[in-house]
Amino acid sequence: MSRTLVIIPTYNERESLPRQLDAVLAAAPEVDILVVDDGSPDGTGDWAESRSRDDARVQVLRRTAKDGLGAAYLAGFAWGLERGYDLLCEMDADGSHRAVDLPRLLARAGEADLVIGSRWVDGGEVVNWPRHRLWLSTGANTYVRLALGLRVKDATAGFRVYRATMLRRLDLAAVESQGYCFQVDMAWRVIRAGGSVVEVPITFVEREAGTSKMSGAIIREALIKVTAWGAAHRARQAAGLVRGRH
Ligand code: GDD
Ligand code: MN
Repeated sequence: MSRTLVIIPTYNERESLPRQLDAVLAAAPEVDILVVDDGSPDGTGDWAESRSRDDARVQVLRRTAKDGLGAAYLAGFAWGLERGYDLLCEMDADGSHRAVDLPRLLARAGEADLVIGSRWVDGGEVVNWPRHRLWLSTGANTYVRLALGLRVKDATAGFRVYRATMLRRLDLAAVESQGYCFQVDMAWRVIRAGGSVVEVPITFVEREAGTSKMSGAIIREALIKVTAWGAAHRARQAAGLVRGRH
């Protein structure tokens, strides 16, 4: 049987995290959870640590400063790969990724190197998002598809299952994405490495407590990086055509 680690990055999620941990462990009692906290001023890390003392399935990785979603996940991947987990999952702390959907994602991990919980495939849904977030997500995904030719409907999604064998094949030390473009970066790397991706429809529910960490800086980083990756990709394609290769 596969050993599964669910990595949950947190920054000021004291109100949301307890419910999310309970929900994940109820929906998938066989998984372990790693909370990666970036020194949350609201005490999320302290709470998680006390929770981990009562339940061996919960572990905490405490980092000192808010260093972005990408760095938190890379630290979590390294932690999980060192300990020999077979499947490494990404999930938000705020309840937007419903624990009840996790078993359906895990069930598909036999078919693909990366399983994405997708809002933008048939059957996928977003509940309670303000209109500007819907535009941002559909706009970002359209731009990613045009710039990179990526045939993933929800490339920015943060609800995922990676096979450890896939992560080990990637050069994770080269990943520089700090914000939410980390998700696009990783999907793009999996595909370029010849990995398989499946998208499973999920219902994404806007958080009820706490606030989103989405920011102008995160959007700018994504726009700049995706544009640069796209330009390099098109240049490689053009060079291939000039040399008569396809
Ligand atoms: N450790 C750490 N460090 N955690 C962070 C950081 C950070 O710098 N920034 C955000 N997080 C955590 C949050 O605490 C939360 O658990 C999760 O990452 C997602 O952050 P949210 O702020 O709730 O993201 P969102 O709801 O606006 O964005 C959602 O949609 C994005 C676009 O599709 C998420 O699902 C993102 O993963 C997704 O890229
Ligand atoms: Mn959220």
